[in-house]
Amino acid sequence: MIKKNNTNYGKETKRIIKVGTNVGGFVAKLATKNLLGINDKEKNAEELTQLLGNLKGPIMKVAQILSTIPDALPKEYANKLSMLQAEAPSMGWLFVKRRMRAELGDSWQDKFKKFSKNAIKAASLAQVHQALDKKNNSLACKLQYPDMLSSINADLKQLKLILKIYKQIESTINTEDIYQELKDRLIEEADYLNEFKNILIYKNIFKKNKNIIVPSPNKNLSTDKLLTMEWLEGKALNKFYSSNKVIRNRIAENLFNAWYYPFYKFGIIHGDPHPGNYTISNDGKILNLLDFGCVRVFNPTFVGGVIRLYKALSNDNKEEAAKAYQSWGFKNLNTDLVNALNVWALYLYGPLLEDKIRKIQDHEGAAYAKELLGKVRNDLKKFGGVKPPREFVLVDRAAIGLGSVFMHLKSELNWHEKFEELIKNFNEKKVLSLQKKILT
Ligand SMILES: Nc1ncnc2c1ncn2[C@@H]1O[C@H](COP(=O)(O)OP(=O)(O)O)[C@@H](O)[C@H]1O
Ligand SMILES: [Mg+2]
Repeated sequence: MIKKNNTNYGKETKRIIKVGTNVGGFVAKLATKNLLGINDKEKNAEELTQLLGNLKGPIMKVAQILSTIPDALPKEYANKLSMLQAEAPSMGWLFVKRRMRAELGDSWQDKFKKFSKNAIKAASLAQVHQALDKKNNSLACKLQYPDMLSSINADLKQLKLILKIYKQIESTINTEDIYQELKDRLIEEADYLNEFKNILIYKNIFKKNKNIIVPSPNKNLSTDKLLTMEWLEGKALNKFYSSNKVIRNRIAENLFNAWYYPFYKFGIIHGDPHPGNYTISNDGKILNLLDFGCVRVFNPTFVGGVIRLYKALSNDNKEEAAKAYQSWGFKNLNTDLVNALNVWALYLYGPLLEDKIRKIQDHEGAAYAKELLGKVRNDLKKFGGVKPPREFVLVDRAAIGLGSVFMHLKSELNWHEKFEELIKNFNEKKVLSLQKKILT
């Protein structure tokens, strides 16, 4: 029996490897087509998407992150990839038992009162089982699929190749630092002891906030590939899209705090505002924050730079904006490039600049953002291109991801007021000392 199950899983693993190889073939074909000058972008995008489409692996996540950075990927790919959902093949019970034995030892079942045979949720590198501990506490056990690290490394190789080819063809953005950031975060994400630490950091950050709940992790039942924590019960975000305004705004406010309080007070951000990564109580008052696999710690100078840019934009001061980008880590900027970057920055910062209750974006839908992106892309290209600093990746991702959630919620808040409140006493040294404290 074990053998049968094993073979089943083996098929999936093989499929992943096969997809990886195909991407290489595709890239080669793309390069040839470009050399021959026959480059049908739509069709290429279709092909690449098909190759990547059913992939459970980490590259899906990367593609989704990249699709929030203007021109990091060809826009045809970015559009398509951002719509995909990774479908994970699940590990059957026999396989799960084997994996659990490997993580917690032969008598692992004695450590639980109950353990669900089927996965309750699929995760990107794992599947989640619900369980009860000996004291009847409800638990979530995130059990990693085998060989994820080598799968990640294989995917990263392919990604690097795609980015390289794309850059040679037409990119206006140098993605070297972006790639480095994605690589580091992805490799970190496979280490559940790291995620365990991140949970403790977030528990600490929100210990006095009754509206944002972080699950308590369970040390005895966790390893680098099994993360066990308190099960948090809640409803999915989309269940609230048609709730009344008070509830929708409450949720938005909690989300805003969950993402930006850690960033502006401690220089730490949760990198993935995907709606699968939180649930909400029926009355909308409580946000259960989940998934701490992608947490980023920033140098407080960078946080200072983000605030500096906000101030520069609100005073329409281009010199200050240029200095702000420099403190973010952008290099070799000229006035034209700063202007181009400001178009994108004004889009992201827009809601923070106006002291009034408003939607996150007045322009409904993705069309406006697309148009803006097009303009930014053209200008960047015209004026020599940029190399975004790696810190940009998750900050941009958080802003875009949350923005899209706020649009779906049709939340109307005075974002400016909330933001001003957060940065009121900002001081880099204070952030540094709070950060040191919370990280030890
Ligand atoms: N503590 C928890 N309580 C309840 N459900 C959870 C908990 N942790 C994770 N889940 C469920 O499992 C899913 C996958 O877990 P997550 O940590 O987001 O994995 P991944 O890092 O792969 O995205 C989540 O979307 C959520 O539905
Ligand atoms: Mg998740």
